[in-house]
Amino acid sequence: MTGNLRSGCISLVGLPGSGKSTIGRQLATRLSLQFFDSDSVIERQLGCSIREFFEREGESAFRDIEQTVIDELTLKLSCVVSTGGGVVLKLANRNVLRTRCQTVYLHSPPLEVFRRLRHDRSRPLLQVADPLARLEGLYLERDPLYRETASFVVETGRPSVSTVVNTIVVQLELGAGTLHTDA
Ligand code: S3P
Repeated sequence: MTGNLRSGCISLVGLPGSGKSTIGRQLATRLSLQFFDSDSVIERQLGCSIREFFEREGESAFRDIEQTVIDELTLKLSCVVSTGGGVVLKLANRNVLRTRCQTVYLHSPPLEVFRRLRHDRSRPLLQVADPLARLEGLYLERDPLYRETASFVVETGRPSVSTVVNTIVVQLELGAGTLHTDA
């Protein structure tokens, strides 16, 4: 294993349901790194679920807390951080993910994500009459932001979790995940 894999933070971005937490946890185990899920860190700090917090305080209050947590997590060394799907909406988050981390965009088409999440009730943004249309809208808005933030893109539509983890490890070893320095 190269030093490249151990020194900084590896972060995962992508739509809700693209596998960030599952893949992040397995990637961390595989590389013997600590794992943090930013949504879980936020929920621990809030003492309630993100869905409840959204309902009570609104999305903007959530985004401010998310920014603080992302700032703290991306300063850690030798860890894997899975992020919430909307993390790239704030420029400040995109900048720290680009400059402090090797960021992997887990790319899934909206229809694939819809199939996985259609019974999920925990994601506030998807509790609407037409969640597929909402996911397509999120994809249009966010896909360019995920790409702009990421060091490289990995498909998570069909391959198994272990195949995706292997692909990420190979990309990191090849040095595809070099840090951006132009932010
Ligand atoms: C959000 C995605 C969620 C969570 C919050 C907002 C979004 O994380 O951060 O509900 O804006 O897409 P997941 O991507 O883990 O679902």
